[in-house]
Formats: sequence, structure tokens, C-alpha cells
Amino acid sequence: MAMVSTSSARPYHIIIFGASGFTGQFVIEEVARTSSEGPKGTLKWAIAGRSKQKLEKVLEQAAEVLGKPELKSEVDIIVADIGEPDSLAAMCKQGVIVLNCVGPYRFFGEPVVKACVESGAHTIDICGEPQFLEGMQLNYHNQASEKGVYVVGSCGFDSIPADMGVLYTRDQFKGTLTTVESFLTVGIGPEGGCIHDGTWQSAIYGFADGPKLRGLRKKFGYQPLPVVGAKIKRRSALFFSNEVEQYAVPFMGADVSVVKRSQRFLVEEHKENPVQYGAYAGIGGVSSIVKLLFAGMMFWFLVKFSFGKNLLIKYPEFFSFGMFSKAGPTRKQMEGSSFRFAFYGEGYTEGQDPSQGKPNAKIRTLVQGPEAGYVATPIAMVQAAITILNEPESLPKTGGVYSPGAAFAKTSLIERLDKHGIKFSVV
Ligand SMILES: NC(=O)c1ccc[n+]([C@@H]2O[C@H](COP(=O)([O-])OP(=O)(O)OC[C@H]3O[C@@H](n4cnc5c(N)ncnc54)[C@H](OP(=O)(O)O)[C@@H]3O)[C@@H](O)[C@H]2O)c1
Repeated sequence: MAMVSTSSARPYHIIIFGASGFTGQFVIEEVARTSSEGPKGTLKWAIAGRSKQKLEKVLEQAAEVLGKPELKSEVDIIVADIGEPDSLAAMCKQGVIVLNCVGPYRFFGEPVVKACVESGAHTIDICGEPQFLEGMQLNYHNQASEKGVYVVGSCGFDSIPADMGVLYTRDQFKGTLTTVESFLTVGIGPEGGCIHDGTWQSAIYGFADGPKLRGLRKKFGYQPLPVVGAKIKRRSALFFSNEVEQYAVPFMGADVSVVKRSQRFLVEEHKENPVQYGAYAGIGGVSSIVKLLFAGMMFWFLVKFSFGKNLLIKYPEFFSFGMFSKAGPTRKQMEGSSFRFAFYGEGYTEGQDPSQGKPNAKIRTLVQGPEAGYVATPIAMVQAAITILNEPESLPKTGGVYSPGAAFAKTSLIERLDKHGIKFSVV
């Protein structure tokens, strides 16, 4: 069972690393709001990063937002830098779980995973980069397993709603669920909305490195997952979706990679039937198609060259039509934003053999929540940590590098998320 207790040598349940970053500041607020949900009603926690001054400032700001006189008497500060392995080791030795908010993960993530595994600290990240997530599984799963350390990646908007949404849909279906398609739509209020530059940079380097991911996958040497029931239908690169009544495209994030990893784990470890999965995102009407095509072509062209990448990094707002910005969204913009995943599942009712004929039953579920990047992501990340701390007996039986669905399939994470505003329902 996972080690989840603090001790004099390991005094913190949670250490937020990268706490002074754009996302980190919201993770601080979320941990402060949920500190009574720790084991026995308390949570001992610290924040960490490379600049003590920045960390002090972000803690003051968080106290102000939360209406508290101060946080510094209950929250310690640890200075640690990715470039200084000793400082990372010293940080990891002090925490039960490290919440890692330092990205792009392809550049900064591995030293943190390594230090956590070697120091016996569990770690959770909010990475949306399949190459990093799968690479960590390939390189650290065995070592993490031996050490009893749980490394759970993609615990933010990428990809907890999708991964847990597929499991929720499967669990609500009476029979054998064989396919699920998800359709993501994002609601934006009158103030507009955008995503912070940190995620834009992760996307740029992720696209540029696409071919490496194929090479990495070969190294796993996996057999294809068995197909149960009728094959999932293939959609085109752009189509009108009756499900969300707007044009839709395949979702470019980490969701498909993450859900596949979870399904493989559930097949191999628990002998469950695999669910085939397709992920799509609604993009709106014809004017959105024109913008997306233009921005997509420019991105696709520029990302191949280093001068192009530099341009994309320098001018996120221009090249993304305002979707990404160096300042990130304002709090007002976040208040007006929301996300909605609609899951359309098909399968075979109880007693119906999935190897015979077409699916004979359908299910529709929703996962809905607040603004995706900086409200839902901290909620998902913190609830994932709270789940590890409170339900170690329900995690996979050995440590290892896991997707959220693999780590949390047998826990109450969905109920916990539901209580915090990420709502799961059957419609
Ligand atoms: N899954 C999701 O849906 C989701 C949502 C939001 C964000 N994210 C991901 O989270 C990551 C962070 O995004 P962000 O927008 O918060 O980026 P950001 O504002 O640039 O924050 C990056 C953080 O990394 C720290 N850092 C950089 N180099 C470091 C080093 N050498 N040692 C220690 N710390 C270092 C920075 O410290 P300083 O403050 O000292 O500069 C900062 O705290 C990105 O990968 C993004 O894609 C994912």
C-alpha cells in the first residue's frame, strides 16, 4: 500500500513545485481551500520553486484572494531548481506527494520524476504532452514500482475529465460498453477568455516533436488492444457534429493517449473489456473554421523551423488569434468560462454477445465544470492528491507510472470531483 503518512523527516503531505507559475498560483489557492480534506482533517503543505521572493509574493497574493490575513505561518517555502538535482532531492524527501506545475514537461519534467522516485515521494503533474507522459512510463515504471512510488501524470483538464469520464460512462452502462466518443465544447463569458503562454509553449514543442512519439511507442512493444464489439467509427478531420450541433475536429490534446493507457491497464491488470475511444472538440460555425484553418496552417508550417518556433513563442496572441496570451486569462474571464464534455457510448446489453452483430444500446453522459485551465485543473490536481492521501488501499497494488484512469479507477475520485464542481451525470 502506498506510503501516505508524514513524519518528522517528511513533514508535508503536499509540496506544490512551480508554485510561482501562472497555474501554480491557482493550485496554492485550491490546496488552501481543501486543507481540511487531508488525512484526519488536516493537510500539512509547502510551496516550492526557484525564487524565494516570488514564492513569498505568491503566498501573500493567495492569502489576499482567500481573505486570510496571511498563509506564511501555515505554509513553508522550499527553494528548489530543476538545474540543481540536490535541491530537487532535498525537496522530494520532505513531501509525501509533489504536485509538479513546472512545464513544459518535456524540458523540465524528468528531473522531478527521477528525484521523486529516488526519494520515495509520489508525484502528480498536469502535463498534456503524450511524449513526456509515455516516456516517463517507459523509463520509470519499474523503478517506481520497486520503490512503491505513484507517479500519476495528466491530472489536470488534460486528461482527468476525459479519462474519468470514459470510466464513468462505462460504469453507468448496463452491459458491455464498447465505444465512447467525447465532444468537448468550451463556454466563454462576455469578458472573453484565453490560455496562458505556458500551455502554448508546451503545444509548440509537442507538435514539433510529433515523430519522436511514434518511435517511443514502438519501444513498449505492445500488442494492439483487443477490439470488443463493433469497431468505433472513424470521423474525418473536419465534420459537422450533430452531437454538439457545430463543426468539430479531432481533439489534439493528450486525451486519446491517456485514455488508451488507462484502458490497457484495466485490460491487463483487471481483465476488463477495453473501451474504444475517439475525442473531438467543437469549434463553432463557418467563421471559426476559416480562422482555425488559417491559424493551423501557419502553426503547422512555422513549428517545423527554429525561426518559426521562435516567432510562435514570441507572439502567442497573434498566431493563435488571441486564444493564448503571455498574461493569461483574467479572473473575470475565468469566472465566465466553463467546459463541457459530452460522451456518446455504445455497447451491448447484458446477455448480448459483443462478438455478434451491432451494438444494441447507447448511453450519453456529461462531465461539466468551470474554466478548464486554471479552475478545473487545480481542482482535478488537488483532488487526485487528496485521493492518494485518503485512499491508498484503492490504488493499483504496486507503485508505478500511471494514467489517472489506471491510478484512480477503484477510488472515489469521481465523487470527490463532483463535490468540487466537476460534475458527472447521465443524460
Ligand atoms: N493539463 C492542463 O489542462 C493544464 C492546465 C494549465 C497548465 N498546464 C501545464 O502546466 C505547465 C505550467 O504552465 P503555466 O502556464 O503555469 O507556466 P508558467 O507560468 O510559465 O510556470 C512555469 C513554472 O515553472 C517554473 N520553472 C521554470 N524553470 C524552472 C527551474 N529551472 N526550476 C524550478 N522551477 C522552474 C517557473 O518558475 P518561476 O516562477 O521562478 O519562473 C514557474 O513557476 C505547462 O506545461 C502547461 O501546459 C496544464
